[in-house]
Amino acid sequence: MRGLKELWQIFEERFPDTGLRKGAFAAPGRVNLIGEHTDYNDGFVLPMAIDKNITMLAQLRDDQEVRAYSLDYGREVIFSLLDLEFEKEDFWANYIKGVIDEIKKMDYYIQGMNLIFTGDIPIGSGLSSSAALEVVTAYTIASLNDLDIQPVEMALLCQRAENNFVGVNCGIMDQYISRLGKEGNALLIDCRSNEYELVPFAIEDYQVVICNSRVERGLVDSEYNQRREECEKASRYFAERLDHRVLALRDVTVEELEKEGGGLEEITYRRARHVITENNRVLMAVSALRKNDLETFGKLMTESHYSLRDDYEVSCPELDLLVELALKQKGVLGARMTGAGFGGCTVNLVHKDYIDDFIANVKKAYDQETGKDMEIYVTWPAAGARELA
Ligand code: GLA
Repeated sequence: MRGLKELWQIFEERFPDTGLRKGAFAAPGRVNLIGEHTDYNDGFVLPMAIDKNITMLAQLRDDQEVRAYSLDYGREVIFSLLDLEFEKEDFWANYIKGVIDEIKKMDYYIQGMNLIFTGDIPIGSGLSSSAALEVVTAYTIASLNDLDIQPVEMALLCQRAENNFVGVNCGIMDQYISRLGKEGNALLIDCRSNEYELVPFAIEDYQVVICNSRVERGLVDSEYNQRREECEKASRYFAERLDHRVLALRDVTVEELEKEGGGLEEITYRRARHVITENNRVLMAVSALRKNDLETFGKLMTESHYSLRDDYEVSCPELDLLVELALKQKGVLGARMTGAGFGGCTVNLVHKDYIDDFIANVKKAYDQETGKDMEIYVTWPAAGARELA
């Protein structure tokens, strides 16, 4: 990654100084430790921000124009704040436009700006580079225009940008953790109340290791929407049968599923079972972590993978292989796919003494069997969006 000084040099070579406010900001990617496909069911998730970011440098303009330059794509996109059109071929610019659109809908007045951005979050691998771009854009605009947008409100507006402008029907997790992540902590997010608790993750002897399968997540959008529909169907089914309020699968217990779920189609039953048991696993994982019981934490991670593989059916052969290989290594307490699925990454809890062996063995076996060049990132809980000094 280039240093800030070098980035300002690039900025100044590209754009004349407007004399107006400027600043540099960053927002991280994330890895979800446990709680997959629960956020859009009003459930619980436990992600952490990672030390990979998108960095944005920007200066206000005295007109309504935005000039956005992506260093990594070597491409500049110019548009007016008054004319925000979705352009398929400018795919990254749509995230920026979407965020601006949502900020404008909130009735804030903003000025045009010149900006450059760059990042080290691998794209399309399930580590939320798009959420990071949305969040860093919102953070930059809010800071330079003095908008008082609270953190959760900012995460929600970024989610709306993705839902409404980009057209991806995601939940709140990725934008939330990118905005609110705290160093040394995972966040237990209640995706109904949008409140969070910090869960210290300073696990001395163990580290979070991310394996990137390098499988492009091709089917993800259509399958994702289909899973959401199946969950809504199950939720409506229980709302009609249970004698308490059911707004989402969050409100259904395992006992209720077993007792009353017989009338559901088999597939819908399994989808519901994943969500309901996954919510329980998140809460159990948090209490295990608070007791420093990493063995239990790791087991829950692995159970989560099996549930995603068998009941929710969002894994793929490469992710299953990575989990299987990981669990054969010494010093591994748990392994699972992370993110939406159908490719992307796995997350593993590995003892520090065995990380080198883990990397060497898993990579060799995986590359040999799949012909792909797996990437590994050893990471720790990093900070959420922030201004850079
Ligand atoms: C994607 C979405 C999130 C969440 C996960 C699955 O990352 O953006 O909102 O639904 O998939 O847990």
